Amino acid sequence: MGIRLLFFVFVALILWGVIYFQPPIWVFPTVFVVIFLFYSNTLRERVPLFLSNRTTWAALAQLMNNEPKSDNKTRRFVDLGCGLGGTVAFLARHHPHWHVVGVETAPGPYLISKLRVAFIANAEVRFQSLWSVQLGDYDMAYAFLSPAPMKRLCTKVQDQMPAGSLFVSNSFWPDDEPYDQDVLVNDSRESHLICKRV
Ligand SMILES: C[S@@+](CC[C@H](N)C(=O)[O-])C[C@H]1O[C@@H](n2cnc3c(N)ncnc32)[C@H](O)[C@@H]1O
Repeated sequence: MGIRLLFFVFVALILWGVIYFQPPIWVFPTVFVVIFLFYSNTLRERVPLFLSNRTTWAALAQLMNNEPKSDNKTRRFVDLGCGLGGTVAFLARHHPHWHVVGVETAPGPYLISKLRVAFIANAEVRFQSLWSVQLGDYDMAYAFLSPAPMKRLCTKVQDQMPAGSLFVSNSFWPDDEPYDQDVLVNDSRESHLICKRV
């Protein structure tokens, strides 16, 4: 009910703005293109674009530090829905011995994150749905999505990630799904990193 009311207030404000300011005609297609580039997948996936902060990136980097080393194999990390690529870039810079991958399906964020990691040798961003990622290739996977896909994603993690690998979800976790660790990040949002050892 609250969200619906907010939506109607938002639409009313936009209508009022259009009538009051009478913006030039090019504003409308521009707004449409921007919304398409950044939010075209939101209705389908029910995951909007919002970003992890630097404190969370540091907490993730610490979790990567704690992961056991394997002698001759490069360890691999994936950000499932990497947004603007900040997490991928930060973690790749802080962990040069990991290969850090981001996947994203919104065209705008994909392009920005692709550019952001262009000169980081151990980072990679792909235009790919998280549902088609083969999680068996990764030692650690991270997601900051919404409550909507979490049950399905936990099933995918359980089915595909190798034994001993780590799945981390920022803030969202299905009620009936067990997890191993809940790291409270010391940020203003009081983010939680919920960790499941596969
Ligand atoms: C809440 S943002 C998180 C961004 C980033 N991981 C971070 O922590 O800053 C979620 C992102 O997932 C993307 N997304 C949603 N569904 C997706 C899917 N099926 N495959 C890939 N990306 C997806 C959205 O476009 C959005 O950029």
